[in-house]
Amino acid sequence: MTPMISIALIAAVAENGAIGRNQQLLCHLPNDLKHFKTLTSGHTVVMGRRTFESLPNGALPNRKNIVLTHNHDLAWPGVAVVHNIDEAMAQADKSPVFIIGGATLYNETIGLADTLYITHIHHTFADADTFFPAIDKTVWIKDEVQEMPADERHAYSYTFVTYRRKR
Ligand SMILES: NC(=O)c1ccc[n+]([C@@H]2O[C@H](COP(=O)([O-])OP(=O)(O)OC[C@H]3O[C@@H](n4cnc5c(N)ncnc54)[C@H](OP(=O)(O)O)[C@@H]3O)[C@@H](O)[C@H]2O)c1
Repeated sequence: MTPMISIALIAAVAENGAIGRNQQLLCHLPNDLKHFKTLTSGHTVVMGRRTFESLPNGALPNRKNIVLTHNHDLAWPGVAVVHNIDEAMAQADKSPVFIIGGATLYNETIGLADTLYITHIHHTFADADTFFPAIDKTVWIKDEVQEMPADERHAYSYTFVTYRRKR
């Protein structure tokens, strides 16, 4: 890994930690996608193979896309395929590197991260099947908080929260 590169996790997390169902996101929040794009553009994004396969148009533009898989036969256009976390971090060239999911990746990297960009969606999805790890309040402190209301384009209210690791 490039010396001093930092790791940030970014996720949209509903009540009870839910992040997905049937290999898809739980809901469509256009302002959250914009927030995601603003934060991650120009940076490296690292994701698991299942999250990559859920993207509608393949690799995310204006970002270095790194996809983790154990399968050495897989390759996709515009993507650096790697086979373990160390290899992924070694390819990151600008701080922070963003871990963009899914649950497997979040669980494997939350212990390495120093920032969490969490969109808390204020809704319970009873049929969720994929979850973000617990955000331990003894480890993480809320830094920035921005409340966002529901409106005609957003079915639920949500809050952008930046958590920093306590030092
Ligand atoms: N709400 C959000 O912000 C958000 C963001 C992203 C994703 N999601 C949701 O999360 C769900 C997908 O999460 P998931 O946990 O099922 O899958 P995932 O984390 O996207 O991908 C898991 C796959 O990544 C590969 N992988 C993970 N760790 C690896 C390692 N250390 N070395 C090599 N390969 C590794 C493996 O691929 P192989 O099986 O090919 O070996 C593994 O099966 C979907 O519902 C998606 O929509 C939500």
